[in-house]
Amino acid sequence: MSEAGNWVRVASVDDVEEGAAIPVETMGLQLAVYRLQGGQICVTDNICTHAFALLTDGWFENGVIECALHAGQFDVRTGKGLCAPIEEDLRTYKVRVEDGEILIELPD
Ligand code: FES
Repeated sequence: MSEAGNWVRVASVDDVEEGAAIPVETMGLQLAVYRLQGGQICVTDNICTHAFALLTDGWFENGVIECALHAGQFDVRTGKGLCAPIEEDLRTYKVRVEDGEILIELPD
């Protein structure tokens, strides 16, 4: 059964092709769910920290999402902003995969 913590399902693993990113809205959050080459799943906020843009409208390759608006980049595994104009890192979520379903732990 579930570990302690507030875990919510955001998508099925099958919803996300390897090397792709999809937008998910849940519990009032706009999230981006990524499946890296090799299968690792990561989840971050989907709204760029620079201005208002959905990161899933950008380009995703090798664990890096590039914003479509001003080409800022983030490492989706850590949320770290990698280049200008990004000054603030992206929020990431703890992820668990259970029976093919992707769950994230919501912050308190
Ligand atoms: Fe994403 Fe400017 S809105 S880099």
